[in-house]
Amino acid sequence: MRYNRRGVALLAALITVLACSPGDEPPPSSHHLPADQRAGTPGIGDPDFPRDGNGGYDVAHYDLAVAYVPATKRLDGVAAVRARATQDLTSFNLDLTGLDVRGVAVNDVPARFSREGDELTVRPSKVLDSGTTFTVKVTYSGLPKPAKDTANLGTYGFIPTPDGAFVASEPNGSKTWFPSNDHPSDKATFNFTITVPAGVTALANGEMIGQPVTAGGRTTFRWRERHPMATYLATATIGKFDLRQGSTATGIQNLAATDPKFKGSLNELYTRSGEITDYWTTVFGPYPFSSTGGVVDDYSAGYALENQTKPLYGGFNPQETIVAHELAHQWFGNSLTIKRWKDLWLNEGFATYAEWLWSEHKGRQSAEAMFQQLHNRPESDPMWKYPPGRAKPDDLFNQSVYTRGGMTLHALRRAIGDATFFTLLKRWTAEHRYGHVTTEQFIDLAEHLSGKDLTPLFDAWLFQPRRPS
Ligand code: ARG
Ligand code: ZN
Repeated sequence: MRYNRRGVALLAALITVLACSPGDEPPPSSHHLPADQRAGTPGIGDPDFPRDGNGGYDVAHYDLAVAYVPATKRLDGVAAVRARATQDLTSFNLDLTGLDVRGVAVNDVPARFSREGDELTVRPSKVLDSGTTFTVKVTYSGLPKPAKDTANLGTYGFIPTPDGAFVASEPNGSKTWFPSNDHPSDKATFNFTITVPAGVTALANGEMIGQPVTAGGRTTFRWRERHPMATYLATATIGKFDLRQGSTATGIQNLAATDPKFKGSLNELYTRSGEITDYWTTVFGPYPFSSTGGVVDDYSAGYALENQTKPLYGGFNPQETIVAHELAHQWFGNSLTIKRWKDLWLNEGFATYAEWLWSEHKGRQSAEAMFQQLHNRPESDPMWKYPPGRAKPDDLFNQSVYTRGGMTLHALRRAIGDATFFTLLKRWTAEHRYGHVTTEQFIDLAEHLSGKDLTPLFDAWLFQPRRPS
């Protein structure tokens, strides 16, 4: 996942050899870079989002403790981030926006730090050797502010609401509430300890550990996501909620939560989420996580987000179609995660195609009928100009990534036949379970399983700025 620094190191070694007279120190090995090159980079290497994520380390686990008071909108946090150095590190960065950093410690030793824009730079008291595991603990507080991008992404990240917070961070809003390596190419497990005023509920990913504990007018909720998760899928959604808990027909833990304004949706959300999760296991393969469900909060985000194990619906009664979409993301996006944002169709095209599969399963419109109808859209439709195989950083969630992405899968199904197509879906999720994926890998597997040259099909559907014939 990390791009390596070997090339840089070799070049540096060469320069050292050329510049130094015999008898000087031996040239550094690739693991021991010269001092000025041992700083972790401020970006993880996604050319479309050059400052997202960071280089030089790989996070294994986030242990997040946050206290939040809806009335004052103040958050107090301690984030303990366990990571492995992938190079020698004299310094490294975390992504964090706003908020005041009170202190940073590396392996329990206070460390120097500085802030610049969304980058928090940490200078450990001693160099972290390549390959070693370390823990960086950041103590921080303040009034979190969501990210806003009216042209493209809307409002996202940690969004205060009258009774708590709506937390949906795709693509890079995690840094609005915890210090992180905020890019999907670095997944990690998570523990959450969330303290809120008594009477308020805190919902995070995975499963609750123990019962909430109330003392001194405050309640602490503990949650754990034990499967790898991208930072943008992490949530600590807070507020007044009605809950319904149980398990699906096949025995997957199920939790639905609705803001009181949406209480009328609670039973429907619970039942549908269970039914759809179970159905997707028959189409996409075993459920990757330990629980399913959904949360409806009273914030009109204009979107839903597939937060791992707990999709979040922003201020509307979720209909079957969108529940089918968000739950399909548990496989496509959450278990199998993109390495680079340009491959977003691997999330959204698949989740959109899942909507059509759900409709087909229910005996309503078939995927074929949906495809025909969309294919009939005139040449002037903006979708034909936007090749979905390369999501644009300034227009990431363009409708084409969804609709034409879904059509790409249907065109593939027509070309290779139902049997191979549905085998492909299961092989895809099995081979890359909990991992990272690229478009090239999907095309390779499709060609391998079908024995067909599918380059022209994928090229026309994913990469050409015109309507495929
Ligand atoms: N992945 C979400 C969905 O398709 C969309 C998230 C959009 N994010 C945003 N900041 N607008 O359901
Ligand atoms: Zn989606």
